[in-house]
Amino acid sequence: MTQTMKAVRIHAYDGIDGVRYEDVPRPKHAENQVLIRVRTAGVNPIDWMFTEGYGKEIFKHQFPLTLGWELAGTIEEAADTSSFKAGDEVFTYTTLMGQGGDAEFAAVDESAVALKPASLDFINAATIPVGTLTAWQAIFDTANLQAGQTILIHGAAGGVGSLAVQLAKWKGARIYATASERNHDFVSSLGATEVIDYTKTKFEDTVKDADVVFDTIGGDTQERSFDTLKKGGFLVSVVSPPSEEKATERGVRATMIAVEPNGERLAEIARLVDEGHLKPNVETVLSLAEAKRAFEMSRGGHTRGKIVLQVGA
Ligand SMILES: NC(=O)c1ccc[n+]([C@@H]2O[C@H](COP(=O)([O-])OP(=O)(O)OC[C@H]3O[C@@H](n4cnc5c(N)ncnc54)[C@H](OP(=O)(O)O)[C@@H]3O)[C@@H](O)[C@H]2O)c1
Repeated sequence: MTQTMKAVRIHAYDGIDGVRYEDVPRPKHAENQVLIRVRTAGVNPIDWMFTEGYGKEIFKHQFPLTLGWELAGTIEEAADTSSFKAGDEVFTYTTLMGQGGDAEFAAVDESAVALKPASLDFINAATIPVGTLTAWQAIFDTANLQAGQTILIHGAAGGVGSLAVQLAKWKGARIYATASERNHDFVSSLGATEVIDYTKTKFEDTVKDADVVFDTIGGDTQERSFDTLKKGGFLVSVVSPPSEEKATERGVRATMIAVEPNGERLAEIARLVDEGHLKPNVETVLSLAEAKRAFEMSRGGHTRGKIVLQVGA
């Protein structure tokens, strides 16, 4: 008899209204994968964006599609050759190319999984993978941010930005950050040198000669960010490809990146968490059955830190 589980899925690009909390077959894990009993899942804008068909030509998802791309839980089953064993407490960012983890069980490539930080419970652990991997790959691997350099981080109160600020602080950078006034104390507490209220002030009037801009907002914010960079500086976006023409004109580099799963890096990040360099920020915790509400909140665009879904007890 097929074992079933609860999962949050879409059957078409019908928006958040089409999200279903339903009984589905439990996934089987392939040779290179582990089966994780999911305890908590982090909510990301990509969840509601996928319900609306974002990137459908690239991702070519199979319906029904289980949503949810970062999670924490325990290993349920692993191959004998795996470096994980049943009961290990893990966290992961899974690939956007396949099925997600908003479910009681998830089959995940072993190479994307790491032991969760020992100092965090499951709720807090689920806030870490997407934000830290995205920020690391953008500001370190791509823009090569160095100690003593200046970075401007947009959306600094969000799921990615709040971790980017802490990683930049750990690196020893000088950090300008944008956030609305209600988040100023929060973003300062993460290590920003100066927080700019983007609703009242033009950040380009304050920030000059930045080495790096980390763009998690796009649009006009991205366009105006070119004015804050020094010659030879780097604008890295995770939202939309910046203008190559403008980059050439200004003598800067500019690109967009897409986060890649990376269990080894996550293990390093877990160490940084346990050493106290990175703190999670939970906006709210909802049950898996309340996923639709969580996606609506995320779509509002003002999450502080991360919304987390509680999956198993
Ligand atoms: N390419 C990739 O691989 C990748 C990976 C992860 C995420 N992303 C994308 O990156 C974006 C950010 O993700 P996220 O998880 O951080 O989103 P999020 O948690 O929903 O971000 C919300 C934050 O954005 C801030 N914000 C809204 N408008 C702003 C503005 N004009 N200027 C400055 N801050 C503003 C809000 O602060 P206030 O409330 O203070 O306004 C809020 O704290 C999303 O579009 C997501 O899809 C891409």
